[in-house]
Amino acid sequence: MEKLAKLKERKEQIIARKEHYYPKYEKHLLNQYLEYKGNIRVFVRVRPILSQDFKAYGGTQESFDVIQKAIQALNNSQLSIELEKSPPQTFNFDAVFGPQSTQDQVYAEVKHLIQSFLDGNDVSIFAYGQTGSGKTYTMGTEMSKQTSQGNQGIIPRAVRQVFGEIQGRKDQVQEGQEEAKEAREDGMRVSVQEIYMDSIRDLLNLQNVITQNNAISKYEPESITVTNEAQVFTLLRKAENNRVVAETMCNERSSRSHSILQIKLGKATLNLIDLAGSERLNTTKVEGDRQKETLAINKSLSALADVISAMKEGRFVPYRNSKLTQLLQIYLGSSSAKTLMIVNLNPISLNESLCSLRFAAKVNSCSA
Ligand SMILES: Nc1ncnc2c1ncn2[C@@H]1O[C@H](COP(=O)(O)OP(=O)(O)O)[C@@H](O)[C@H]1O
Ligand SMILES: [Mg+2]
Repeated sequence: MEKLAKLKERKEQIIARKEHYYPKYEKHLLNQYLEYKGNIRVFVRVRPILSQDFKAYGGTQESFDVIQKAIQALNNSQLSIELEKSPPQTFNFDAVFGPQSTQDQVYAEVKHLIQSFLDGNDVSIFAYGQTGSGKTYTMGTEMSKQTSQGNQGIIPRAVRQVFGEIQGRKDQVQEGQEEAKEAREDGMRVSVQEIYMDSIRDLLNLQNVITQNNAISKYEPESITVTNEAQVFTLLRKAENNRVVAETMCNERSSRSHSILQIKLGKATLNLIDLAGSERLNTTKVEGDRQKETLAINKSLSALADVISAMKEGRFVPYRNSKLTQLLQIYLGSSSAKTLMIVNLNPISLNESLCSLRFAAKVNSCSA
């Protein structure tokens, strides 16, 4: 415990400098900190109550104040939730972000995972939660929205950090430093995919589709080499447009599908995943295709929880139960891989929030 506290202190000093490039001994220290904390981490983030909620739910400021108090960050690792007529329940996390938390604060905890990817390890970051809980806001998936830099989510910040590192390595090559000799020459490659109803679609090449019936082993998404941020954003916009083409069959497709941005550098892969909405099936309201959709989503999300908890406990890992886990198997399963699950909560929906917290507890087997 004491070692972790010391490492954490050093880590905080290092990341406080807000640099994009770290010397080797500091990288080693950051990696040691991550390894010490374990390779699977779970964060929770509660989004604030927004003015649009007043319209949608018709509540008053006072009633929302009461709701906001029902979910409380007790400190930076514990969150409590209190539903009507039951005692408060507490859940443990590697980090807790309350409604006032900023994108900067979230990224400060994500940054060293991106550094770990830059050091050659596979890293996967998932945003989980019901529709409207803040997954896309946290992940920064919606590139077509003009967002000020301070409000940007994880994706644009991660892209910037990766390019910062690539530039740092180039500068070192010019200065002839030894470490730079290890620097990989190849550039950054990007692919964008979605999984909808257990079919994988390559959003940079719509011809490339894997349905329930054809083999995932032959599938390889289009992977495009990029040399600057603008090119990444152009690809993300192309992916969004392609998704809109596919969407005509189904409204709100983006919240009903898993969206996967992959960034590759050398042999390592960074997966940034905005998961489909986790809302439960309300059998009185939902039928037909919508019901099938929800069942497919629930199945793949529980397959994901099973995979992560099995990895954590060192049990046999059941990757084959969903396309999502099959697609990610090679990254989640490698020995130095790191996984982060960010559970997003909408404080207005306490019942859904409790379900999300139970999901988090399952993923984080020692934490409920
Ligand atoms: N931490 C936050 N601070 C301010 N607004 C937020 C925050 N999280 C989410 N929102 C807003 O809440 C709404 C729903 O968030 P969104 O990310 O689209 O949810 P999801 O992707 O889970 O469906 C959006 O209008 C978004 O801008
Ligand atoms: Mg979303």
